Amino acid sequence: MPSRINIKNKITFSFIALLLMMSATAIIAYLLVQQVERKLYRVEIIDNFLNLTLELRRYEKNYFLYHLEEDYLDNVQYLDRLDETVRKNNDVFTASPSEVEADQVDKVLYSYRKNMSQLHSLILVLGTETQTTEREHLLEAIRESGKKLTLIAEQMAGKERESIQNLLQTSWSVLFSTTGTVIIISFLGAMLLREKIVNSLKLLEGYTRKVAHGEMVAPPEQRAEEEIRSLFQAFTRMNNELHLRQRQMVQSEKLASLGTLLAGVAHELNNPLSNISTSAQILSEEIDNPDREFHHTLVKQIEEQTDKARDIVRTLLEFSRTGKFKKQELNLNDVVSSAIRLLRSEIPAEMAIELDIPADLMVWVDKQRMQQVFLNLIKNAIDACGNHGKIWISARDFLSEGNKEIEILVSDSGPGIPPEDQKKIFDPFYTSKDVGKGSGLGLFIVHDIIESHGGAITVDSRVDEGTTFIIWLPGEAPTP
Ligand SMILES: Nc1ncnc2c1ncn2[C@@H]1O[C@H](COP(=O)(O)OP(=O)(O)O)[C@@H](O)[C@H]1O
Ligand SMILES: [Mg+2]
Repeated sequence: MPSRINIKNKITFSFIALLLMMSATAIIAYLLVQQVERKLYRVEIIDNFLNLTLELRRYEKNYFLYHLEEDYLDNVQYLDRLDETVRKNNDVFTASPSEVEADQVDKVLYSYRKNMSQLHSLILVLGTETQTTEREHLLEAIRESGKKLTLIAEQMAGKERESIQNLLQTSWSVLFSTTGTVIIISFLGAMLLREKIVNSLKLLEGYTRKVAHGEMVAPPEQRAEEEIRSLFQAFTRMNNELHLRQRQMVQSEKLASLGTLLAGVAHELNNPLSNISTSAQILSEEIDNPDREFHHTLVKQIEEQTDKARDIVRTLLEFSRTGKFKKQELNLNDVVSSAIRLLRSEIPAEMAIELDIPADLMVWVDKQRMQQVFLNLIKNAIDACGNHGKIWISARDFLSEGNKEIEILVSDSGPGIPPEDQKKIFDPFYTSKDVGKGSGLGLFIVHDIIESHGGAITVDSRVDEGTTFIIWLPGEAPTP
């Protein structure tokens, strides 16, 4: 199933997802910090309350010991301040997690104040020396309330500190787990993305390798990411364009050789035409000759020469046509001979071309294309040998693993091809000839044609000794 989301969007989505997760983490962290801040503020208030309580109790103790008026006043002052603290921070004391009821603080403070003022009045009236049970009661109650206040403050502070500890613990685990999750998700995402991109690129690589080997395969774009798919499309367009250009070049190379052939054909046609003309002339002069046999011979000659001329024209027509690839059973001698005939005008007078092909050797080939093969090979041999030289064309059939095969050798006595050039001669546009003389397409086309017949071609060449092109063709039996 090809994914419909392209790489760009995938990256964008991953980024957005990560961003959202990180924002969520930041918000959670912010809220936690805020809560800790609030708790710290409460702890401060409670601490303050505790300190005030301790001061209150210090003056309470002094007053109990020395009964000084100023100690009492100080005690009352601290009591006021405690009251004020509770009043101002009602929320802290009511929403406190302490086990002590909130209004208990109020109550304790209230009874402390009441008892203290009673004690004060009692001491003012009775003096410091008189010990009464009422006074003892008051002292006891005040001490009790003071202790309670300290206990409440201590308990509240303890609880708050504990809850801060818990909050910090929570913050740690939240931060730790979200950071871990973000890291794991980004790692997995990156791996997945990498895998997808790398896989797509591998597909492209495999495809280009196939194309480089000359295979015309459809690009496997379905399985690739969108970006890579458009790369595939661009690549396919380029490849098709190149194939088209190549075909055009091959065609123009053919047209170029056709040009040189035309001269040869004109020359070739001259022979049968002048023979026809001579025969016709004799016939018109001897029209009154009663020898019917003689007339018959002349007409026969005209017929033969006309056939020859027609053959030449037909060969030329066949050659110029870019017909469909069509294999047929042909006599190899005929194919080679017609190629040589087309080249007649280019073959120097002193050059010898020897054929050593069994008269009945049949091949299963596309006629026009096979002619092109011999034409290109012979032309190269002529170019290599110069005016003097020898060309042999031989062929044989043999059995290879039970299948009939045909081996054709095209040899020349030319200067040979240096080993380092032998690798390049089948490449398109490789030529050692001057500009305008060689296109470098001749052997490329030969190679292409032989391969399209399911055969193979190699070269065996030694500098200063000569060159042999070896062609193998499958000896297919024509289906009846
Ligand atoms: N029979 C041969 N002897 C020596 N060199 C040859 C022969 N055939 C081909 N070559 C070399 O191979 C090259 C490529 O040949 P070809 O593809 O036919 O292109 P072109 O003939 O246009 O140069 C030639 O330029 C030549 O250097
Ligand atoms: Mg050539």
